[in-house]
Amino acid sequence: MANKSVIKNVNEHVGESVVIGCWVNNKRSSGKIQFLQLRDGTGYIQGVVVKSEVPEEVWDAAKSLTQESSLYVTGIIREEPRSQSGFEMTVTGIEVLHLTENYPITPKEHGVDFLMDHRHLWLRASKQRAVLVIRAEIIRAIQQFFNESGFTKVDPPILTPTSAEGTTNLFHTKYFDEDAYLTQSGQLYMEAAAMALGRVYSFGPTFRAEKSKTRRHLIEFWMIEPEMAFTDHEESLKVQEEFISFVVQSVLKNCRAELEAVGRDISKLENIKAPFPRISYDDAIKFLNDKGFEDIAWGDDFGAPHETAIAEAYDKPVFITHYPASFKAFYMKPDPNRPEVVLCADMIAPEGYGEIIGGSQRIDDPALLEERYKEHNLSMDSYKWYMDLRTYGSVPHSGFGLGLERTVAWICGLDHVRETIPFPRTLYRLYP
Ligand code: 4AD
Ligand code: MG
Repeated sequence: MANKSVIKNVNEHVGESVVIGCWVNNKRSSGKIQFLQLRDGTGYIQGVVVKSEVPEEVWDAAKSLTQESSLYVTGIIREEPRSQSGFEMTVTGIEVLHLTENYPITPKEHGVDFLMDHRHLWLRASKQRAVLVIRAEIIRAIQQFFNESGFTKVDPPILTPTSAEGTTNLFHTKYFDEDAYLTQSGQLYMEAAAMALGRVYSFGPTFRAEKSKTRRHLIEFWMIEPEMAFTDHEESLKVQEEFISFVVQSVLKNCRAELEAVGRDISKLENIKAPFPRISYDDAIKFLNDKGFEDIAWGDDFGAPHETAIAEAYDKPVFITHYPASFKAFYMKPDPNRPEVVLCADMIAPEGYGEIIGGSQRIDDPALLEERYKEHNLSMDSYKWYMDLRTYGSVPHSGFGLGLERTVAWICGLDHVRETIPFPRTLYRLYP
């Protein structure tokens, strides 16, 4: 009985007989030879079945196989320089596990709605698989970066009594007799954790009931939220650019084949190394007005076309800093020299992928925070615990949130965030 292997490891079995559990991706036949394109999730290999060299039942089993049929295939691994993986299998045995009939996703083109309705099967496509492998590498690199930089992983709650990022897009639910909301951001809890552990990061799902149907918005997305005690805005920007450089370089190093499978222009990523350029909100408004954007003036927030125009001026991510306090979150610390703007920055990815990070230094003065509560109509009851962080040993502190799916979309060069997460939750789509 041959040893079990997976396609990724066949290089360790050249000249040996192995068994691989797999699915049929595709098949062609020349009458006397059948070529099986096999996949097992770890990779792809061609199995060659030669009529004159196998028992009749093996030949017939190969003939019966259809797209997405499952099987155990046995065969000898050979080096094959002409194949993409560098290896091929000379098939000696086939145990059919399940014959598939009428697999809905055929090699022809399908529309987006059809593919989204069949997302549970679409995941098997080579491009979708590659995206999920890159997503996993991005997550791994993120955790490596923070674990090796003195951060402790902390998990904020998902069910919360209040909002962190404004009340307009909260998902409401009941918590027995109380009202509760799915978290929009773990930040406020991460600030508490930073006062206990110094440097912390979270990584978890967040929910925003945003009525936005754009290529950048998901209803459920994953966020990485580092929070750092004794850290000012400027120091936080340095962490952010080092962090993003590390993640991009890790993907380049560890996911070459997958980047190729998604068709990414790698030269655009090779350049992503700290430091990143910075532009103030003031200068960004001037830049846009000079470019002919007449629909934006000081005090307005940027839309996607504005972000894209600014990003196009750079070949790396760019920080837009010092936004007006008027449309930013209540917890952001005003610039001491110019209180109408706050010590914050959004990191805008190149190539039109938009904002991937939002971050700021936080208000540490209890009196100012209380003022903000009043301006934003936040109830002292709900946010008393957050005020306590300023009442007891307040320190300068900063943090930021990286949207995982937008980061995956950028690194993979995808048109839409819906392909960056296994089962996307988008406006009006909850199935499958
Ligand atoms: O800019 P945001 O709203 O910042 C916060 O939530 C802060 N509390 C983070 C912090 O300082 N700890 O969101 C952070 C990032 C955005 O830059 C974007 O990448 C992503 O989260 N994001 C979304 N991604 C997909 N779909 C959505 N609807 C998103 N909303 C935000
Ligand atoms: Mg933001």
